[in-house]
Amino acid sequence: MSTAAQHDDDVTGRAGDPGEDHRSDGRRAPLVEMAEVGKSYGNVQALRGVNLSVYPGEVTCVLGDNGAGKSTLIKIMAGLHEHTEGTFSVHGISRNLSSPRAAQGLGIATVYQDLALAPLMSVWRNFFMGNELRKGLFLDKDTMRRVADEELQKMGIEIGDLDRPVGGLSGGQKQCIAIARAIYFGAKVIILDEPTAALGVKQSGVVLKYIAAARDAGLGVVFITHNPHHAYLVGNHFVVLKLGRVSMDAHRSEVTLEQLTAEMAGGQELTELQHEMRGVGA
Ligand SMILES: Nc1ncnc2c1ncn2[C@@H]1O[C@H](COP(=O)(O)OP(=O)(O)OP(=O)(O)O)[C@@H](O)[C@H]1O
Ligand SMILES: [Mg+2]
Repeated sequence: MSTAAQHDDDVTGRAGDPGEDHRSDGRRAPLVEMAEVGKSYGNVQALRGVNLSVYPGEVTCVLGDNGAGKSTLIKIMAGLHEHTEGTFSVHGISRNLSSPRAAQGLGIATVYQDLALAPLMSVWRNFFMGNELRKGLFLDKDTMRRVADEELQKMGIEIGDLDRPVGGLSGGQKQCIAIARAIYFGAKVIILDEPTAALGVKQSGVVLKYIAAARDAGLGVVFITHNPHHAYLVGNHFVVLKLGRVSMDAHRSEVTLEQLTAEMAGGQELTELQHEMRGVGA
C-alpha cells in the first residue's frame, strides 16, 4: 500500500512549516509518522513493520540493544537512508527523504553522538556554523555572539565565555549547544542519537534537562538510548526495538520503569537465560 511519496525535489516548505495541528477526526496530528516501515541493506533486513508517531511537545524514546535497528530508524527520519517498505510521513505527507538537507527543510534536525561541531572554533561560531550572519561583506560577529548568548541563556545553559573554543567544553555542554542551535534554526522535530551514552551521571542530568526544555518548547523529541532510567525521566512514549521489530510500544501511563527495564534487559529471553544458567550450576 504505497502512496506516491514525494521526493525531496518537492520539498518547498521552509523549516517550520507547521502543517495541520489536528486531523479531520479531531485527533492530534503527529509531526512524523511511520507506518509498517521496513529497511533492508541488501540481504540484511534491519527494520521490519515499524509503526511510530512523533507528537509535538512529547519525548518519544527509542530503546533497544546493539544492532536492534535504532540508528537505521533515525537515519530514515534524518534523510540519510531511504526506507524500502511502508510509509513515512512528515506533517501528513508521505515522503522519501534522500538527503539530510531534505529532512532539515522539513524541520527535522538530528544531533549525532559525534557532534558536527568544530572543536577549535568558538561557541558562538559553532552556534551559527553554516548559517552565519553578515553585515555587508563581513561576518556580523557582535550580533552572532549576542544571539548565541541569548539563546543559550534562554535554555538555562551556562557556558561562560562564548569566545572559548568548543573543544574545551564537556560532552554535556556540547550536546546542549547542538540542541539550542537546532531549536533556534526552526527545528520542529529533534532527533538525539544516544546523547547520554558517553556521559557521567551529572552531565547526563544536564542533557536530560535540555531534552525536557525542548519538549516543553513544543518540539517533538526522538530520544535514542540504551538506558531505560534516562528514558523514563523524560519520556512520554516508549518504543523498544528488538532485531528490527517493535517489541514494546507504550505510553508512560501504560508502563512502569521496572517493566521498561525488564523489556530492555531481554524480557522473556532473560528469564530463559536465568533458567539455563541455573541448569549449569551458576
Ligand atoms: N550500512 C549497512 N549495511 C549493512 N547492514 C547494516 C548497515 N547499517 C546497519 N546494518 C545492520 O542493520 C542492523 C541494525 O543496525 P543499527 O545500526 O540500526 O542498530 P542500532 O540499534 O543502532 O545498534 P547500536 O546500539 O549498536 O548503535 C544490524 O544488524 C546492522 O549490522
Ligand atoms: Mg546505533
